[in-house]
Amino acid sequence: MAGGLDELKVEFIDQDESVQVVADTVGSSGEIPERYVRAEMEADPVINDADGHSLPVIDLSRLINPEFSKEEIAKLGSACEDWGFFQLVNHGVDGGLLQQIKDDITEFFRLPLQEKMAVAIPPNGLQGFGHHFVFSKEQKLDWVDLLFLSTRPIDERNMDFWPTNPPTFRGSLDKYSLEIANVSAKLFKFMAINLGVDEEALLGTFKGQPQNVRINHYPPCRQADKVLGLSPHTDGVGMTLLLQVNDVQGLQIRKDGSWFAVKNLPGALVVNVGDVLEILTNGKYKSIEHRAVINPDKERITIAAFQSAPLSCTVGPLQELLMKGEACYKTVDGVEFTKGYFAAKLEGRRFLESLKLGV
Ligand code: OGA
Ligand code: NI
Repeated sequence: MAGGLDELKVEFIDQDESVQVVADTVGSSGEIPERYVRAEMEADPVINDADGHSLPVIDLSRLINPEFSKEEIAKLGSACEDWGFFQLVNHGVDGGLLQQIKDDITEFFRLPLQEKMAVAIPPNGLQGFGHHFVFSKEQKLDWVDLLFLSTRPIDERNMDFWPTNPPTFRGSLDKYSLEIANVSAKLFKFMAINLGVDEEALLGTFKGQPQNVRINHYPPCRQADKVLGLSPHTDGVGMTLLLQVNDVQGLQIRKDGSWFAVKNLPGALVVNVGDVLEILTNGKYKSIEHRAVINPDKERITIAAFQSAPLSCTVGPLQELLMKGEACYKTVDGVEFTKGYFAAKLEGRRFLESLKLGV
């Protein structure tokens, strides 16, 4: 994505209410507006991490260490194939920086609505404070307010949407963005080794390391099982690195037909394979459906950093992998891919499935 993100017009319609304001109103009246009520929530079985299926944990310091690298790369490969998700520990991102960005984000969402609206998403825009994927006045709405910003390449940032309050926000997001880009470049490199492809072939697709961040603020809801923070979806990018800003859990991922509730290890980043990486690897790595649920008492804040392919690239299975078998996905250009992703209304794997060949 990124690269001319502002030129990429999307057909979202305005959602003029802040979910925080709705949540405050529900807090006193007890009645959730119909547009946020999700009937499907009750029927879905959820597996908790405590049930024994633990999400794979990948250690970046072991990936880098020649003594353990081979073993850890194999683990990384299995995690991407079997789960499409893993927790990344010893990622090397400075603890002080993590604390600073967490504080800044928390402070931003605490500002009065009017101040947050200074960076509101404009009509047909993507960047800023507001909502994504609202297409009609009838559809169900997610219980979340977000701040979406294009962070890399640096010269394509649109500072109009970067909050100036708190004053440290811009500096910490700038530093965080670089750290995450560096971590993801390392991961792509080890993935290339695992896939047996030329490192440049994989990294080349993510040239310039386009990165967007989606900062999610999920207000609490006493009837949490009636609402959904983020509808089931896959990420239309290469890879996503998610940081929990506070210690409230809520991420659930599809695993063998059930929802698996991720228990985020303190300090770890939750990394997932996006649609672009599934396509590049011709289906070897999996872009897994995930969603976010709401806590009855506590707000939840996360920051998802999306490492994307530039709009100028082509998205298709890597040539080197096609020597071993037929292409399972169509090849499309970056603009077509990104437009298609946004038009597919965040409905699970629908868009990705539409790019599959021979099914
Ligand atoms: C996302 C996402 C999950 C979460 O922003 O794409 O999946 O737990 N977020 O906030
Ligand atoms: Ni996501």
